[in-house]
Amino acid sequence: MILKKLLTGSGSVVGLVRQLGGVTTTTTVVKTSQQQRFFSIGKKSSPKILITGGLGQLGTECAKLLRGTYGEDSVILSDIIKPSEEIVNSGPYIFADILDFKGLQKIVVDHRVDWIIHFSALLSAIGEQNVPLAVRVNIEGLHNVIELAKQYKLRVFVPSTIGAFGPDSPRNPTPNVTIQRPRTIYGVSKVHAELIGEYYHHKFGLDFRCLRFPGVISSDPPGGGTTDYAVAIFFEALKSGKYECYLKPDTRLPMMYIDDCLRSLHEFMTAPEEKLERRVYNVTAMSFTPEELVNELAKHIPEIHVSYRPDSRQAIADSWPQVFDDQDARRDWGWQHQYDLEKLVSLMVKDVRENYVNKGLSNV
Ligand SMILES: NC(=O)c1ccc[n+]([C@@H]2O[C@H](COP(=O)([O-])OP(=O)(O)OC[C@H]3O[C@@H](n4cnc5c(N)ncnc54)[C@H](O)[C@@H]3O)[C@@H](O)[C@H]2O)c1
Repeated sequence: MILKKLLTGSGSVVGLVRQLGGVTTTTTVVKTSQQQRFFSIGKKSSPKILITGGLGQLGTECAKLLRGTYGEDSVILSDIIKPSEEIVNSGPYIFADILDFKGLQKIVVDHRVDWIIHFSALLSAIGEQNVPLAVRVNIEGLHNVIELAKQYKLRVFVPSTIGAFGPDSPRNPTPNVTIQRPRTIYGVSKVHAELIGEYYHHKFGLDFRCLRFPGVISSDPPGGGTTDYAVAIFFEALKSGKYECYLKPDTRLPMMYIDDCLRSLHEFMTAPEEKLERRVYNVTAMSFTPEELVNELAKHIPEIHVSYRPDSRQAIADSWPQVFDDQDARRDWGWQHQYDLEKLVSLMVKDVRENYVNKGLSNV
């Protein structure tokens, strides 16, 4: 109505349409004889977002956050797993195998996808158990996604990890740019992803964005990484008061609560290009050892008893950063974490107790 008035009025109307990572914003400039005014019409239209590997630890929560922001139908969750009824009822879900380039192409075209959030991967401990599959999923799959993003001019997010560092890297703190040389196939594939993404950005202008996450803690089942103990301990300790930890008590690793992790992803995806000095950033919130986590948990579960039996994951953890330096992310696009160890533990205790233990459920 207002627009119609403006169009038929005495002022001249100029419609400006800007492309912002596939997101269209329309601004109408109305010039009257006395003044010049700017009107935004109909808000910014939402990007259409495809999440690959969406039924893992991060995917469903990420879809919830983005659907809350952009609307249910703007976010398509995908994986190769048969979804639960709850997933199907919560918004669009489709089958997408990242090893099938044509299949991915069809999805991007049919759904007019603007952003890909590429979560599919085999994590560190699982990757060591099946190296050829990890090479296929983590490297060949990534090639498909990057090439597709280039062809269709998509904004693409690929998470990297503290596992992209190795025994030659400085561990406390680990800066954004330093020696990497990881010793797991997971880490090697993530360094490859970082480098090929940066290369496509410089060579073809691909809008590649990558955050190196620390261990992410949430009540959803983790996918077989080295930091999984920091999720499992809540379930075991609240159920039985006991936990056997596969890392030594003094193994310090960087960690983050899932809300911080996904907020960092969203803030980074919407950060203006000109603020990004680089395409790959470290982000973190805290660092702790199993012993420090147990001490904090003991405030909620005084009877807790934890024993330690290190396995093959100890060697992986010993080659990873202990403290992650994320000052570049804080400086360039304003990253700030909200959850420290104390807050994280009380939230996790409440969540796991109310939503799982009291209902007789587990997260696996
Ligand atoms: N969870 C963490 O602590 C953490 C930390 C750092 C980085 N990351 C990264 O974040 C991403 C998501 O992690 P997550 O913990 O949710 O992983 P996850 O292991 O829980 O989920 C990965 C998903 O990928 C899917 N997948 C496997 N093969 C596939 C294929 N061929 N096609 C499509 N999907 C396939 C799996 O079915 C699974 O649901 C990964 O890339 C991981 O490296 C996670």
